[in-house]
Amino acid sequence: MDLKGRDFLRILDFSEAELRYMLDVAKAFKEMKQKGQNHKYFPNKNIVIVFEKTSTRTRCAFEVAGYDLGMNVTYLDPTGSQMGHKESIADTARVLARFYDGIEFRGFKQETVDDLARYADVPVWNGLTDSCHPTQALADFMTIEEKLGTLKGKTLAFVGDTHNNVSNSLMAMSAKMGVNYIACGPAALRPHEEVVAACQPIAEKNGATITISDDINVLSGADAIYTDVWLSLGEDKEKWGERIQQLQPYQVNMRMMEMAKPGAIFLHCLPSFHDLNTSVARDVNEKYGLTEMEVTNEVFESERSVVFDEAENRMHTIKAVMYLTLKDN
Ligand code: CP
Ligand code: NVA
Repeated sequence: MDLKGRDFLRILDFSEAELRYMLDVAKAFKEMKQKGQNHKYFPNKNIVIVFEKTSTRTRCAFEVAGYDLGMNVTYLDPTGSQMGHKESIADTARVLARFYDGIEFRGFKQETVDDLARYADVPVWNGLTDSCHPTQALADFMTIEEKLGTLKGKTLAFVGDTHNNVSNSLMAMSAKMGVNYIACGPAALRPHEEVVAACQPIAEKNGATITISDDINVLSGADAIYTDVWLSLGEDKEKWGERIQQLQPYQVNMRMMEMAKPGAIFLHCLPSFHDLNTSVARDVNEKYGLTEMEVTNEVFESERSVVFDEAENRMHTIKAVMYLTLKDN
């Protein structure tokens, strides 16, 4: 299977077989890393990772994966380049492509990463936009497979802001891999119609279902429960009050975990507001009195929680994506 030169912009751009291949290669890289085997396949390559929004996992995963593959990595922070304010996306893309073998981008509009890919003649990898988070979905499915043994026929439930970027990519990945997807959240934050319309026929073809509901009783068939923050990067802080009101009934707590299948696992892309150990959580606590938000500390710290394996798998899956899109056959 040849993925050389391909961009990684959204899950729906890839076939089930291609996504399967990425997961298998990620697994092989994880084993190599655990055994301490050298895999510096690209000692002469350079990549740039461009961030319009902040990041811990995605930035570090791209950097370490790049170094492990023997590459040099340049990081451009949200204020560190001319892109967007003094130089157009098209011009930036053509300049970066003269220096680098691959470009990662995290930012606001999907259009920006699409334009980078259009104008750069090297692979462009999407590290999150307002619309999707495809490298996250790959890591999540690697984790679900590790923990549950298989993917096909399993049921993944996303609880909370089912309208957000992470949910969009998980719905697409579920449809492609034949996993049943439940989007459980308030009607006001339902998944985007166009995302559902794109995923539904793919899910059907792969024998999977997509369920959208505001009733938490739909969680009884879930093998995995996933949640994310109630307010995403770039959203107006003024919305906290409204989101808390809408999403408090969807907080993942032990009672909710017990509604799912016995042994159901808990996932979260992170970062998470499960305690008061962040300034954002403390601000929200002062204003609205909450001590935990999208997930209780009890669930987050429980044996069902696989969030740190999931975070680790960001690196292995990103490495697989870079390797496959950069390697010669
Ligand atoms: N999950 C994730 O993308 O985390 P960061 O925002 O820290 O990159
Ligand atoms: N939905 C979150 C995901 C963070 C990894 C955000 O966009 O902020």
